[in-house]
Amino acid sequence: MKLPLIAANWKMHKNRKEAREFCRAVIEGLPSRDLQHILLAPPFTCLETVVEAVAATPILVASQNCHGETHGAFTGEVSAPMLADLKVEWALLGHSERRHVFGESDELVAKRLEGALKQGLKVILCVGERLEEREAGQTEAVVARQLQPLENLRDLWQNIVLAYEPVWAIGTGRVATTEQIAQVHRFIRAAHGPIPVLYGGSVNPGNIGEIMRLPEVDGALIGGAALDSGKFQAMVAESLKAKGGSEHP
Ligand code: 13P
Repeated sequence: MKLPLIAANWKMHKNRKEAREFCRAVIEGLPSRDLQHILLAPPFTCLETVVEAVAATPILVASQNCHGETHGAFTGEVSAPMLADLKVEWALLGHSERRHVFGESDELVAKRLEGALKQGLKVILCVGERLEEREAGQTEAVVARQLQPLENLRDLWQNIVLAYEPVWAIGTGRVATTEQIAQVHRFIRAAHGPIPVLYGGSVNPGNIGEIMRLPEVDGALIGGAALDSGKFQAMVAESLKAKGGSEHP
């Protein structure tokens, strides 16, 4: 995995044809060395299509969630071995929509994290505070609580990327200021130094340059603006210009 990492979370968007077209446009549109900085997180129904479409490239593919158990009576869920069967090596976990729309608790996310890592998946663990928590001065306490499960998993830190996504900045067009981003990233680094930290929340081609110029930011996790292959390519190019490329140890 190469830093900076520019990750597209497609959420519940795109059918297989659209997924194929997106991959083709990005592979044809960017220099091949840039592709090693990309991760795509399509919906479950497009995972196999995307894995096939990017098979000849270093583009990484992630599921948007994963259960912690290997199998069982868990309707609607998929497991790490099922993802491995599709050659999917990464999973997003603890995304704010999973936590706040679907009620995944810190405890549940912790179980998923431990299960997924122990079964060999690499994980992007998402953390971030809600607006009322920020306004109550609880941002660092919330982020620290969400990162607590990492303490028992130190031997697997090399398989983890973190994403700081303030809930109030997701899908709202209200991006955090560079000062707010740098402050939380510094706080995370103080405790979890070796783990890369992406920023997510209303990232777009117009603001990604200034966000990526922050030394504390190792990449971006992008929703809405990453659905369009042209915008996504522009954001990859802008990020690499801001950072140069560096290899994650
Ligand atoms: P937006 O970029 O649409 O704000 O979404 C961010 C996000 O949730 C990425 O995981």
